[in-house]
Amino acid sequence: MTVGQFPHTRLRRNRQDSFTRRLVAEHRLSVDHLIWPIFVTEGTNVETEVVSMPGQKRVSIDRLAAHVEPAATLGIPALALFPVTPMEVRDEHGTEALNPENLMCRAARELKRQFPDIGLIGDVALDPYTSHGHDGLVRDGYVVNDESVAVLTGQALNQAAAGIDILAPSDMMDGRIGTMRRALDEQGMVGTRIMSYAAKYASAFYGPFRDALGSGDLLKGDKKTYQMDPANSDEALREVEMDLREGADMVMVKPGMPYLDIVSRVHERFAVPTFVYQVSGEYAMLMAAIRNGWLDHDRAMMESLLAFIRAGASGVLTYFAVEAAQRLRAG
Ligand code: PBG
Repeated sequence: MTVGQFPHTRLRRNRQDSFTRRLVAEHRLSVDHLIWPIFVTEGTNVETEVVSMPGQKRVSIDRLAAHVEPAATLGIPALALFPVTPMEVRDEHGTEALNPENLMCRAARELKRQFPDIGLIGDVALDPYTSHGHDGLVRDGYVVNDESVAVLTGQALNQAAAGIDILAPSDMMDGRIGTMRRALDEQGMVGTRIMSYAAKYASAFYGPFRDALGSGDLLKGDKKTYQMDPANSDEALREVEMDLREGADMVMVKPGMPYLDIVSRVHERFAVPTFVYQVSGEYAMLMAAIRNGWLDHDRAMMESLLAFIRAGASGVLTYFAVEAAQRLRAG
């Protein structure tokens, strides 16, 4: 365009008022997209704040119903459960993961009883149960694959039997989805869904989550021999392809905001239900800026969530789930 000529196309026309912006909006966040991760702890009458995740709590089973009630009322489709396992029952082998009476299983049964319509997602990984904080078994300082898969499969069956609807293996061992799927089929649990953490990166953004579970201080070394290198993108597609072939019903990318390119590639390539986890560090970062008055809570929250939907996500695991749902219901 040269000076003095009028542009024929003016993209600003469709932005000039609210009704037009609403008509032409390409993507919309809805309550149906939200999954709320919650932390469950032992004891009675316990509700402790996770310091690095303002607003998020560890809640004992007797208080779960009251804690979850707002999410159920708002119509949030599913919860992701994470147990704060007492230190005394953590061991080298993550044995407690196989206990049908462990915290996770008791919480799942209680939630199913109180809220039969809300979906329950169970994280499958040994880190809440191991004394070394790793997701699998450690031999000579290395997290071994095949033996870990055997234990993780036992954990998966244990959770499914307790009423977990969707198993979400977050351990990043090779071949675990196929082994779990076969084991579920053999047990007649053909309806249990698997949402694999297919592209899970060895990220700095899980710090506050590890604080919440108490696994951060225990962790020996890092998780780089099993979680993905943040430098890689093609490899994420191989991870997803492998998990789908092995029987995953849905896949996940994690973390979220720094990995939107991965969400987009996975969605474009496979056209399967693709979830994304806005992880603890992302939540902590946003909340820190919000608390300082540097970002507006609702606007930053909603924009960060909408970005996932725009990138192609079918849904988002987010600690903002309840507040975002409240905001969406308020219109
Ligand atoms: C366990 C697991 C982690 C998260 C979800 N499942 C931590 C890790 O891999 O160390 C992180 C979630 C978050 O940061 O919000 N394997």
